[in-house]
Amino acid sequence: MIYLTRRERFNAAHRLYKPEWDDKKNFDVFGKCSNPNWHGHNYELFVTIKGETNPETGFVINLKILSKIVREKVIEKLDHKNLNIDVDFMQGKITSAENIAIAVWNEIESEVSKLGCKLHCVKVVETENNSIEYYG
Ligand code: NI
Repeated sequence: MIYLTRRERFNAAHRLYKPEWDDKKNFDVFGKCSNPNWHGHNYELFVTIKGETNPETGFVINLKILSKIVREKVIEKLDHKNLNIDVDFMQGKITSAENIAIAVWNEIESEVSKLGCKLHCVKVVETENNSIEYYG
């Protein structure tokens, strides 16, 4: 079994908050990420797929095709956007790195499967100290 990872990057604004809580409670739970006037992160997204190599090409997956799927299905919707407001697949969700990873998985899994590979992991790096890995 071969594992292959493609990295993409996006910049986005967000706010972690629950509308039914006041600003103080949101700050107590979500910290600086609850700033009412938004803030941004330079996110990194690592998509790992697994499969066997195609004897004809030596590839598990054509990286150009994988990159195209990730860019069209998620990066173009996330990059330079407000995750709370602009992104269809984040509507009604707390825009935590955890929920971003799960949503990205759900957006791309079927496309990856069509190529004969399995999605293995979606990793979202929010800051250099914090990252999330989702394995489905
Ligand atoms: Ni934040």
